Amino acid sequence: MKNYKHSWAEPYKIKMVELLRMTTRAQRLKAIKEAGFNTFLLRSEDVYIDLLTDSGTSAMSDRQWAGMMMGDESYAGSRNFYHLENAVQKNYGYKYLIPTHQGRGAENILSKVLIKPGDIVPGNMYFTTTRLHQELAGATFVDVIIDEAHDPLNEHPFKGNVDLNKLEKVVQEHGTGKIPYISIATSVNMAGGQPISMANLRELRAFTAKHGIRIIHDMTRVAENAHFIQKREAGYAQKSIREIVKEICSYTDGATMSAKKDALVNIGGFMATNEWEVFEEARNLVVVYEGLHTYGGLAGRDMEAMAIGIEESLDDNHIHARVGQVEYLGHLMESYGVPIVRPIGGHGIFVDAKRFLPHLSQDEFPAQTLAAEIFLDSGVRTMERGVVSAGRKANGENYYPKLELVRFTIPRRVYTQAHMDVIAESALNVLKRAKRIKGLQMVYEPKYLRFFQARFERLF
Ligand SMILES: Cc1ncc(COP(=O)(O)O)c(C=O)c1O
Repeated sequence: MKNYKHSWAEPYKIKMVELLRMTTRAQRLKAIKEAGFNTFLLRSEDVYIDLLTDSGTSAMSDRQWAGMMMGDESYAGSRNFYHLENAVQKNYGYKYLIPTHQGRGAENILSKVLIKPGDIVPGNMYFTTTRLHQELAGATFVDVIIDEAHDPLNEHPFKGNVDLNKLEKVVQEHGTGKIPYISIATSVNMAGGQPISMANLRELRAFTAKHGIRIIHDMTRVAENAHFIQKREAGYAQKSIREIVKEICSYTDGATMSAKKDALVNIGGFMATNEWEVFEEARNLVVVYEGLHTYGGLAGRDMEAMAIGIEESLDDNHIHARVGQVEYLGHLMESYGVPIVRPIGGHGIFVDAKRFLPHLSQDEFPAQTLAAEIFLDSGVRTMERGVVSAGRKANGENYYPKLELVRFTIPRRVYTQAHMDVIAESALNVLKRAKRIKGLQMVYEPKYLRFFQARFERLF
């Protein structure tokens, strides 16, 4: 096997450790049964390596922790807000900032400000909370990502790209008056952390400028996207991550951010915009849902940690080590014959449950099943990203997404290379007995975002 070890070593050393509990298979079987075969319902103390999400699970740096001690907990006008505002303006170029408790807080405010009932929001693949807030505000989401994004084996280097022909059709059909904005995610989560290219963004900017439509940027993983532009797109090899990120943002009119990912904090998010009127309305609404506009549901210390995290997230060495670790795990899994989404994305490895458990139909929840089996094997907690996450349409029918995936999401600066080896070995163990694995049936389904709380039983 090719040696991937040396190209991505971490630009930090470990100062403090968190002890983990190792469990037996019998303990894990009891735990997963009690959790209704839903990894979201497990207690974290039953988990050995937690790959449920990269959201809010990063290790903060000593500088961030020092920043936490500098929290200015004034109700209004905290100095930490101004540090954060400065970090956003300087690094992302957006003019106005509204902090929120996390990404979905920003999605709620933005959707309420920009969407009116009956609107259409095109986007480069849905994200669960983003689409739900668009729908709750009365819009219908339309997927305009390139077809390649729905094919786990396609090697397209920028599977996050928008298909401008699809977008043109949506505009023709509905008219620009019904399209308040185009929703563009960098590092498209549901496609496997796949990037959008700068060339595509530029084309999209030209298209939207012609039609007078905004671009709203879900910038949750913008630095990881910048990494792929630097590595794969002509003309960017010599540009820094910081420069690339700023250029990406410059083609958009506003953003929502879950700072719990790229920006290396355990809690926090924001909405940003270049439009004064949008800002004014959002600044008023945030008081209703989050808190005053200079804290948005966060403590001053959280805003300080976020301001510092934004700076650290744009360091080239940091982002290369972060994506390098993900790639190390992906290459190892591939060498074991585990079917994964190609190319390897920025924040995790997405295992193709349809190929892993080909004998299960989507109604038997192959990805949900596989996530439970991986936990049983090793205590590694992963997440379903398939038919359960996709949920139901407004008419009650299930969405049947083409991608039926298990996400092995890697928290930033948390696990070691030996942990990656354990994870890949566990996937291999489960693969060896894949033929004998039975599916699941859903026995409880909540109304909203069902993947978080649904319960399952094993089929016999
Ligand atoms: C692409 C994307 N957008 C939005 C969100 C929502 O952010 P939060 O979990 O902070 O509410 C997430 C979180 O998982 C995400 O991955």
